[in-house]
Amino acid sequence: MKHLLKLADLTTEEIISILNLADRLKKERKNGINHTYLAGKTLGMIFQKASTRTRVSFEAGMYQLGGNALFLSDRDLQIGRGESMEDTARVLSRYIDAIMIRTFKQEDVENLARYSSIPVINGLTDYAHPCQVLADLMTIREYKKNLEGRTLCYIGDGNNMANSLIVGGIKTGMKVRIACPSSNKPDAKIMEWAEKNGDFICTEDVFLAAKDADVLYTDVWASMGQEHEIEERRRIFKNYQINDEVLKVAKSDAMVQHCLPAHKGEEITTEVFDKHADEIFDEAENRLHVQKAVLLKLLMPEIN
Ligand code: CP
Ligand code: NVA
Repeated sequence: MKHLLKLADLTTEEIISILNLADRLKKERKNGINHTYLAGKTLGMIFQKASTRTRVSFEAGMYQLGGNALFLSDRDLQIGRGESMEDTARVLSRYIDAIMIRTFKQEDVENLARYSSIPVINGLTDYAHPCQVLADLMTIREYKKNLEGRTLCYIGDGNNMANSLIVGGIKTGMKVRIACPSSNKPDAKIMEWAEKNGDFICTEDVFLAAKDADVLYTDVWASMGQEHEIEERRRIFKNYQINDEVLKVAKSDAMVQHCLPAHKGEEITTEVFDKHADEIFDEAENRLHVQKAVLLKLLMPEIN
């Protein structure tokens, strides 16, 4: 694994191996065992969008592994004044050991990786959020003990989260159900791939998608960069909510996941969120353990 740009680039074995390492790091941290595997290494974190979890989990994760992290906002970088991704990649490759980038276009991340001689990690684009879905898979496996054969139902916008959940879910043998309005479907090529490679349904019918689900997942109706569309989106997505009625058709022990931040009262009710808060905040915690596993896989592949 040279970069982490999208889950489609990873084999099932690579995904499972990241989850296994994340499990080990989590257990060891709880037992007070710390590592300095990344001593002397620096991660540069380019942010062209806001972040709480991604920034803090990567930054704390680097420190916990003995390394350093640089927060590089595009307000300060020359990227903000038009310097190209290509040249930024070539310069950063001379100073540091890995780059994490959160931006809009997937193409920019792919371009950064093309010109970089060090690993590049996608910390979210409009197309994908691979780091989040690795943490989601880790959390689902923690609660359900296995992924294969489980049913994952995502309700809401066919956005970056939906795209990455489809790929991550299908690659790990889960049945994936997406409920979204026909105007806001996930990426067409990803859906075509999912239909060929696994058990996949995309429907406008929330109750059909949620039937017998082991996991119900949702995300905001307006992603970063779409805030100005919120009124229109509230209208489009008003029936795409995780609430008690939807939970009733899922398995009786179904878990609820949300990548956060949440807009309670929109994509999820406050009642459902509060009832499943432990699962949702375990999921947020697992970003830390998974980020550390990803960093190790890229920078010290000999570690398992
Ligand atoms: N889920 C997630 O990526 O959160 P942040 O936007 O806070 O990083
Ligand atoms: N779809 C959301 C995910 C946030 C983690 C966004 O892109 O803003």
